[in-house]
Amino acid sequence: MCGIVGAIAERNITPILIGGLKRLEYRGYDSAGLAVFTADHELMRIRRPGKVTELEAALRDDGLTGRLGIAHTRWATHGAPTEANAHPHFSHGELAVVHNGIIENHESLRTWLKTQGYVFTSQTDTEVIVHLIHHKLKDNPNIADALKVAVKELHGAYGVAVIYARQPDRIVAARSGSPLVIGFGLGENYLASDQLALRQVTDRFMYLEEGDIAEVRLDGVSVWDVDGETVTRDVIQYHEGAEAADKGAFRHFMLKEIHEQPAVVQRTLESRLGDAQVLVEAFGPQAEELFKRVRNIQIVACGTSYHAGLVARYWLEGLTGIPCQVEVASEFRYRRVAVQPDSLFVTISQSGETADTLAALRNAKPLGYLASLSICNVATSSLVRESDLTLLTQAGPEIGVASTKAFTTQLVALLLLTLALGRSQNRLEEGMEAELVEALRRLPAQLDEALAMDKVVERIAELFAEKHHTLFLGRGAQYPVAMEGALKLKEISYIHAEAYPAGELKHGPLALVDADMPVVTVAPNNELLEKLKSNLQEVRARGGQLIVFADAEAALENGEGTHLIGMPSVHDVLAPILYTIPLQLLSYHVAVLKGTDVDQPRNLAKSVTVE
Ligand code: F6R
Repeated sequence: MCGIVGAIAERNITPILIGGLKRLEYRGYDSAGLAVFTADHELMRIRRPGKVTELEAALRDDGLTGRLGIAHTRWATHGAPTEANAHPHFSHGELAVVHNGIIENHESLRTWLKTQGYVFTSQTDTEVIVHLIHHKLKDNPNIADALKVAVKELHGAYGVAVIYARQPDRIVAARSGSPLVIGFGLGENYLASDQLALRQVTDRFMYLEEGDIAEVRLDGVSVWDVDGETVTRDVIQYHEGAEAADKGAFRHFMLKEIHEQPAVVQRTLESRLGDAQVLVEAFGPQAEELFKRVRNIQIVACGTSYHAGLVARYWLEGLTGIPCQVEVASEFRYRRVAVQPDSLFVTISQSGETADTLAALRNAKPLGYLASLSICNVATSSLVRESDLTLLTQAGPEIGVASTKAFTTQLVALLLLTLALGRSQNRLEEGMEAELVEALRRLPAQLDEALAMDKVVERIAELFAEKHHTLFLGRGAQYPVAMEGALKLKEISYIHAEAYPAGELKHGPLALVDADMPVVTVAPNNELLEKLKSNLQEVRARGGQLIVFADAEAALENGEGTHLIGMPSVHDVLAPILYTIPLQLLSYHVAVLKGTDVDQPRNLAKSVTVE
């Protein structure tokens, strides 16, 4: 949600700022801006509604350069995506601020700052920050000191970067609830809300912790913790290929990420499988002991990650008999929860920075859970740092706003968790772990086979291009897969899509079915198949168009009004992972046909760090 980049160097830093913003654009992209300190000792800014390319064009026309600067790409929360609301925000032409997050007490601060003579030019919550810091400069002439005092009055979440024309040798920054990372270059230093923004200029990073204030200069960095004490934070060398943020030969990041799934699933399995068993140590040194004690599991997540949790419930209860509840984080965090004894609290998140999931974890801590475990894709994220145990998915950076490879790697991680818990407590059926480990080893090749169906799915997509509503059906663990398919379709093609457990159809939604509403069904051959077939008959009898993904063993046939797409066969337990692939491809191709912005769909952002 929004992106921040800052740089200080002995060369023009605007290319670093623009390059960084482009890499962060997947997080928010409705307006962008930058402010630099120029050779004429002036603080100048350019802001533009729209994407970073608009800002880049304006910068080219203007020719603005500087050796110190901050920049921002925005996802609007307070105030429309206009130039006036775009960051950086200024106070008295000498102080500039960029901000990620939300200031909850902005209204009262705004009212008070107005009484102090400050004039507001935007509708943003951010503008109170810049005027508040400016006000604090009166008693604290050093900008880092003014920032330290100002943040004490801010309620909410923020990652902020500040430059001050009277002290043009530093960027100061503060983090609370919204990540910030400092990058170290050769004779120049940087700052960003995500290390991805800086991968073209450095691979050495320092992650700020909650409550930290930092000062980034040419010659180094100073950090103070929440109590104002000087602290040192580790500098980490980051090894992953910088190419992750490039599309390569693919037309969109989403398509690239869909096709990466065999490789990233393989990577997620690496070092976690023994000959015939899951290595429990992969969950951390205390995992083995803790897992023996788990009597209940509470999973909390949002969006696609929540769907992964819903699939995991079928696995956890079905294979181990351990009770499991799954809830969306935005509900869980505000509910009074009855905690079962010896409950493991599991969060699932691609980014590890989703505000609701993080808040749910923080709220859960005093409630008496046995331990917390995060399934996460970002090793340095807040969620990972604040959880007792972690299993990292190895999906690599996911840029497309619609989550794809993060989901399938989460499913793999959750199946590993199921097997590790089941074995720790001797709850797995004889031979089941070895059978599933073997099936997991075969999975990357089967995912490749599913991806080879791309052209077939592309043709099927044509059936959807003119439609306004669709239904997705599944039974058992395929029901959350249908939910995920519907979410993908709605978020990138803007077609209304709803998922139902197929058995629920006759309790209401069947009334919607007609020739204009395609009904997509995931139908692997399992013990629910015959029931599902009856549900499909109910659709056909009402003239509904069926698009059915099924393997040869399901013995379903193509026919009038039924489009059957043959799937590779797969172990029943792993079917939710495999059947996700054609649904991702379907939504991708429908979106391409409709001409939507596939990687950056309207109104959305990657990494939802606000409530
Ligand atoms: C949908 C999507 C979102 C995220 C959700 C949680 O394609 O990407 O629904 O899954 O915002 O994000 P994370 O997993 O980062 O916590």
